[in-house]
Amino acid sequence: MKIIVTGGLGFIGSQMIRWALDTVPDVQIINVDSLTYAGNPANVAGYSEDPRYRWEAVSITDHDALEPLFADRSVDAVINFAAESHVDRSIMSGAPFVTTNVLGTQILLELARKYHVPRFLHVSTDEVYGSLGATGLFSETTPLNPNSPYSASKAAADMLVLAAFRTHQQDVVITRCSNNYGPYQFPEKLIPLFVTNGLEGQPWPLYGDGLNVRDWLHVSDHVRAIWMVLTEGHRGEIYNIGGHNEQSNRAVAEELQRILGLPSSVMVAVKDRLGHDRRYAIDSQKITKELGWEPLIPWQEGLRQTVSWYQTHQNWWKAIKSGSYRDYYAHQYGACNL
Ligand code: NAD
Ligand code: TYD
Repeated sequence: MKIIVTGGLGFIGSQMIRWALDTVPDVQIINVDSLTYAGNPANVAGYSEDPRYRWEAVSITDHDALEPLFADRSVDAVINFAAESHVDRSIMSGAPFVTTNVLGTQILLELARKYHVPRFLHVSTDEVYGSLGATGLFSETTPLNPNSPYSASKAAADMLVLAAFRTHQQDVVITRCSNNYGPYQFPEKLIPLFVTNGLEGQPWPLYGDGLNVRDWLHVSDHVRAIWMVLTEGHRGEIYNIGGHNEQSNRAVAEELQRILGLPSSVMVAVKDRLGHDRRYAIDSQKITKELGWEPLIPWQEGLRQTVSWYQTHQNWWKAIKSGSYRDYYAHQYGACNL
């Protein structure tokens, strides 16, 4: 099975590649990743020499550079992870989100259609549904109501994927997952930011009242679900993926404090994110009933393993934090006097 995986040098895409090469003997992977600030070849270190794997440093917005990868008609599937993925960056500047997440997805869809790729799996997010109040869950039929440039661009991409199904009967499937955590996550996202700041003796910027809620899922549970949808999901369908694991940001921080043995003073309340979605929570009955998927990694165990990974992989995140990341951090948190 030959698969084009886009965004395979990022957090979730690289987990997919490592998992597939470890688990699926006859898999061949072409990793299309243009290596933005969020991509990192070290995420597939130890796999890059595998003859079943190759990396193409190409943007999903570059139709002409992509076409030869599809042209021999041997590709069995596309899994589209490539995206600008950080809400705070989208608040600073939304244009790259529209270019990659919307235009890039449409270009991939058109090439997959032209060269008769049998399946296109688009990796989306629960954030397309917007924000929940204190109760309720997102199901696959919840109307799209995105609130940030990031989630709006992901919702637009979802609409293009569904349009390809309705207009051309193209074989597409969409997954919408909740917040992921685990190894190799870029330290701009909540959990790796707090863990690495904690290891460096830096404070934890908690937005607003810290009571915004996310439904956390270990990244390895996410990629197992993606594989099930890729191989057994029904064409034209959307599958929600969630951890049944709602946590406020304050609760996540308190758990990390316990694991790292840090005092509560490490948390510093800072100005809230603009348009900050209050609560996300996923109803994942459909994928459980249809495909038999369930999350396997318990939250506290997964979080401990994750902290331990950042403790033992300090070279990985220190290299990131000493680069252009510093400018981002100063811009994002400088005004908070952290
Ligand atoms: P990430 O930011 O860690 O990685 C994104 C990868 O895409 C990077 O390797 C980057 O170099 C690459 N990329 C960006 N623009 C590109 C372009 N134009 N062409 C080719 N490659 C490009 O993101 P992630 O957290 O791994 O998320 C992967 C996907 O999963 C995204 O589509 C995201 O919306 C979705 N998702 C993420 C989460 C989460 O919690 N992280 C949850 C649900 C869904
Ligand atoms: P994040 O990891 O950016 O994921 P998303 O915005 O896609 O859910 O943020 C998770 C939650 O943590 C979100 O409610 C915002 C909050 N947060 C902070 O309180 N402080 C921070 O420094 C960051 C990055 C996030």
